Amino acid sequence: MSCHKYAAAFMPKEAIGYLACLLVPAILWLYLRKIVGSKFPRVGKNPWIHGLANARNDFLKNGRALTEEGYQKYRGSMYVVQTADTERLILSNSFLDELRALPEAQLSSRAAQCDRHLGYHTTLDVVNQSSLHSDVCRAPLTKHSAPLALALYEETQFALTKVSLAKCVPDSEDYEYFSAYPMMMNTLNRVMSRALVGYPMCRNKTWLSTAMSYTINAFTISGTLRDQYHFLRPIIYRFLPARREIYRQLATANQLLVPLLKERATTGGKIDNLQWLTDSAFIGLAAINASNMGVVNAIFDLCAMPEYIETLRKEIEKCTTEAGGWNLSAINNMERLDSFLKESQRINHPGIFSFNRKVLKPLTLSNGSVIPKGTFIAMPTYFIARDAEYYPSPEVFQPWRFYEKSKANGKANSQYQFCSTSRENLAFGYGKSACPGRFFAALQMKIILADLVMRYDFKFPDGQTKRPESDFADERISPSKTQLVGFRLRKLAK
Ligand SMILES: *[C@@H]1O[C@H](CO)[C@@H](O)[C@H](O)[C@H]1NC(C)=O
Ligand SMILES: *[C@@H]1O[C@H](CO)[C@@H](O)[C@H](O)[C@H]1NC(C)=O
Ligand SMILES: *[C@@H]1O[C@H](CO)[C@@H](O)[C@H](O)[C@H]1NC(C)=O
Ligand SMILES: *[C@@H]1O[C@H](CO)[C@@H](O)[C@H](O)[C@H]1NC(C)=O
Ligand SMILES: *[C@@H]1O[C@H](CO)[C@@H](O)[C@H](O)[C@H]1NC(C)=O
Repeated sequence: MSCHKYAAAFMPKEAIGYLACLLVPAILWLYLRKIVGSKFPRVGKNPWIHGLANARNDFLKNGRALTEEGYQKYRGSMYVVQTADTERLILSNSFLDELRALPEAQLSSRAAQCDRHLGYHTTLDVVNQSSLHSDVCRAPLTKHSAPLALALYEETQFALTKVSLAKCVPDSEDYEYFSAYPMMMNTLNRVMSRALVGYPMCRNKTWLSTAMSYTINAFTISGTLRDQYHFLRPIIYRFLPARREIYRQLATANQLLVPLLKERATTGGKIDNLQWLTDSAFIGLAAINASNMGVVNAIFDLCAMPEYIETLRKEIEKCTTEAGGWNLSAINNMERLDSFLKESQRINHPGIFSFNRKVLKPLTLSNGSVIPKGTFIAMPTYFIARDAEYYPSPEVFQPWRFYEKSKANGKANSQYQFCSTSRENLAFGYGKSACPGRFFAALQMKIILADLVMRYDFKFPDGQTKRPESDFADERISPSKTQLVGFRLRKLAK
């Protein structure tokens, strides 16, 4: 028999009422003291004083300013901030080395992803249940990257010439204008699909629209629900139109993919990423969004600094000539292109935080600080990447910054490659749970940008010389979704 039932049996109702009147404030006070008097300093509004909704809203609007304030005050240490989803302990990157070694059972990136993106509600919790996405991604996608590179190149050419930029006709002097963000999003959806489901399914309209709207619905659901109280979420979730659609989309995807899966199982399969997809569509689809931001940012940077286009063209031409055509080794040799993308990513980070983890077992840092179970931690990657201690003249776009660093450091230069992670650049995360798709994402982005640069001229509308400001909302940073970019096919003499 539970404690309160015992009490009820022996106490009159009134006494329970009085007791409750005393106990509830006492417990509340203890709880508040624990949180308010937390041993970590706080930046931004305290949800226990200003209200949770207020504090969240404040971060939603001023996330960048709050994080900058925190970075300046507690650069080498840590502080707590209420973000738009959970409260987070923001740690200095000086703790990276001790943290990266911890097992997933103690410091979990998956649990952080699921809790923060409301996995249970968006079928994203597949991420939680299997580590397949990272294993599969590491093995086949990397192992088969030579044939994959050819397939991606072919699909990029198709997607740009025949679909996204089909309005650009040969020999026309005029630029055709497109909103770069959605245009590239559709291109990436196609190129990504080529890798995930192969040809010809990657050209199937049903598949393409399912994959695209699945991503949008999943983001819609998590965006809507996280503003609600925990206990209301399952109820509200039931009535969200996006929920019904997600289930429909998964059913459609299954219908499309099952025959393919069967066929591959019997024929042995070629580049078999299907299992990966069906296990964890989210990873692939999230990658579309992230890769898209990378490509769009690089396009904006090239429009704003067209003087670098010629250098890139020369390099790409040299690499493809030397390799006798477009193949993986040609693409791997495009070091300036790699450097350009990395610098563009350094300046235009996709988010303010990285190294998001949830503490599943209490942990003690080297200096004795104890981080309690249930804490969400993160690192302020955006400000680390703009720290003059790591990057001289951090605000200046130096396209060959990483190229030169890697040349200066001789053989051991892989840390300056676009897809490598380092303490100073956490855009792809760090440690065991660093984004497993980053090799693939980097390959895909390089191919698309290289093909664009080689076959198209592009520019901002007349009169515009500067790239548009990125949109900051919450901890997310996005390149402008409406910026127009003009494209025309290059006249390739020869
Ligand atoms: C541990 O280091 C952090 C940052 O340097 C500091 O804020 C914290 O107070 C330290 N904790 C202890 C117990 O020394
Ligand atoms: C994810 O995994 C963690 C630890 O394994 C667990 O505590 C959590 O409840 C799981 N979440 C979901 C959505 O399954
Ligand atoms: C897409 O693929 C499915 C399954 O192979 C097929 O039934 C359908 O007709 C295709 N749709 C289009 C638009 O090609
Ligand atoms: C992609 O990322 C951007 C910026 O972080 C976000 O606003 C958007 O909701 C995400 N999802 C889609 C489907 O665009
Ligand atoms: C591709 O790369 C290899 C080096 O790995 C090279 O020998 C070959 O000639 C290249 N070109 C083509 C068109 O395959």
